[in-house]
Amino acid sequence: MEVVILPDPAEVARVAADVVSALAQRTARGTLGLATGATPLPLYEELARRARHGRDLSGLRAVALDEYVGLPADDPGSYRHYLEQRVVRPLGLQLDALDGCAGDLAQECDRYEQVLARGVDLQILGIGLDGHLGFNEPGSSLRSRTRVKTLSTSTRTANAAWFTGREVPLHVLTQGIGTILDARHLLLLATGAAKARALAAALEGPVTTMSPGSALQLHPHVTVLVDEPASSRLSLADQHRHAHSHKPSWQAL
Ligand code: PGA
Repeated sequence: MEVVILPDPAEVARVAADVVSALAQRTARGTLGLATGATPLPLYEELARRARHGRDLSGLRAVALDEYVGLPADDPGSYRHYLEQRVVRPLGLQLDALDGCAGDLAQECDRYEQVLARGVDLQILGIGLDGHLGFNEPGSSLRSRTRVKTLSTSTRTANAAWFTGREVPLHVLTQGIGTILDARHLLLLATGAAKARALAAALEGPVTTMSPGSALQLHPHVTVLVDEPASSRLSLADQHRHAHSHKPSWQAL
């Protein structure tokens, strides 16, 4: 695991955009896993800016991490809508996403597992205030696969800002923790002091279902891009800064 501490969210976005651009350069048709929420927005804005300036990322195939049950694709609260507007259209990508309105949700999860089985090269991740990964809340099995989950009250409260005037859906479909760990490279973004506790538990605490992000400790290739406030509870912060400032120039993230 490599932890890179950066001054602010703009720098996190810039370095993350470099990692995504490198994937597009390296592979003719790479698969990019997209996260939603507030944290990756500056990254998606940076990628859209680069696309407007001629950086062609359209060879990448995009996949989604999770979706609300019962929201159609054109609902502004749905994650498909979020991804279409902010990433897929600006970059000209193809998107495979979960259908939260499928008649048979279990079958939809199985279908999605088969889509992902073709391989995800780079999965972008955020972390919840409670340590969730995707919509895998505390208590989720560390080997779980794509399935229906019930959101915790704290996550529904945290996401209420995206649903003015209506309830945050209670049920979701999400890649499992085991599914996420199958991606070749995981890129976790964390910004803001509110994430410091969950991030420290994930990176430095025990591997436990109580902290779904701690499952990242089991993956062979994880890059964590974090701003100063989110890094404030990392006991190894100085070591991460030291390692990064002495990183061999030939070694990419
Ligand atoms: P946020 O969500 O980026 O909106 O904080 C992260 C998450 O819930 O995984």
